[in-house]
Amino acid sequence: MPYAHITGWGMAVPEPVLTNDDLAKIVETSDEWIRDRTGIRERRIARENEFPSTLGVEASIQALKVANLRPTDLDLIICTSSSPEYFFPATACLIQDQLGATKAGAFDLLAACTGFIFATNMAAQAIRSGSIKNVLVVGTETLSRFVDWKDRNTCILFGDGAGAFVLQASDQPGGVLSAVMHSDGSGGDSLSLPAGGARLPATEATIHEGKHFIHMDGKEVFRFATRVMGRAATEALELAGMTTEDIQWIIPHQANYRIIETAAKYLKMPLDKFIINVDRYGNTSTASIPIATVEAAQKGQLKPGDKVVFVGFGAGLTWGALTAQWTGPLPVKRHVHPEQYRWFARVRSFFRRIIRIIEGIFFRREL
Ligand code: UT7
Repeated sequence: MPYAHITGWGMAVPEPVLTNDDLAKIVETSDEWIRDRTGIRERRIARENEFPSTLGVEASIQALKVANLRPTDLDLIICTSSSPEYFFPATACLIQDQLGATKAGAFDLLAACTGFIFATNMAAQAIRSGSIKNVLVVGTETLSRFVDWKDRNTCILFGDGAGAFVLQASDQPGGVLSAVMHSDGSGGDSLSLPAGGARLPATEATIHEGKHFIHMDGKEVFRFATRVMGRAATEALELAGMTTEDIQWIIPHQANYRIIETAAKYLKMPLDKFIINVDRYGNTSTASIPIATVEAAQKGQLKPGDKVVFVGFGAGLTWGALTAQWTGPLPVKRHVHPEQYRWFARVRSFFRRIIRIIEGIFFRREL
């Protein structure tokens, strides 16, 4: 049975920075309150021309470069987002098109902030089954578009960004070692985007009542998160036959510094074993774990051979953890430049649209 190795990683964040002081100008809050209660100092906000797909593509190109893969080498793209570009088509399909990953199947997976753990596990399982070799997993968000900028309970928390992993099959032991996935739909109300779906389609009233924004019972989510984070990490470690002594790093979902502190206490691990960057990006939902991972890899904290636990929680409610032995790129001789495919992809996409229009005209005539 092949092993599923994480061989590439990349991230993209928008340039514009929104500080706590900036927020204090639009809602009744303060830098001190936000830092004390969340650990967040600033977050990135997407420009008008930045979307989950464009940020996702940037992160993916970096990940493909690290893994030394062409977009056309990909068999599957799984995108996970709490702020997808559309209901459908899937953001994964937009990324597939923009990358020029012509041989890849692509779909979205929705598990809110736990999405990246669920998606990475699904990618690993597909590789372990022997049916595919190269998978791209993308977590990407422009949550700023779904935040009520008048609601100080939520607008201080979220930020935009994207992160991506490439997973590849190899006979060498290592890579993803274990994973646990959990859900409890009975807690769905505590964090939701109430309108826009089939239950509450968009109307003047839903817009007027602010139901297209994120709604959150912060205290309830906080209690849930502190209950499940440490437990999920322990379960995944046990499944891999490891303890906290065996691992070099924990990379948690970056929602709130105090939640991470509680998980560290539960696991009896020092905080310096946790990769934390919530101060600079806020909560980027599905992108938070890969962004923290990429920064740790780029700084040289996370090294090949290191054992790591990824752990997260989110709306649904969902929570989960995944353990992996960090690999790094598999040895290959060629050097590829995945960004060059972007131009081919644009031209190809344009011509495919024209061909579909022409086919449509002839098909109608045949009828
Ligand atoms: O990916 C999952 C996403 N969600 C989360 O992770 C959220 C988890 N929850 C949390 O992180 C915390 O519950 C929050 C940071 C959202 C809130 O912190 P808290 O310590 O639970 O504060 P609180 O909701 O109990 O509010 C305490 C007080 C309230 O005032 P009163 O009723 O005591 O007068 C709030 O109105 O703080 C007030 N408050 C604020 N004050 C200044 C709430 N938000 C703010 C704010 N600035 N931004």
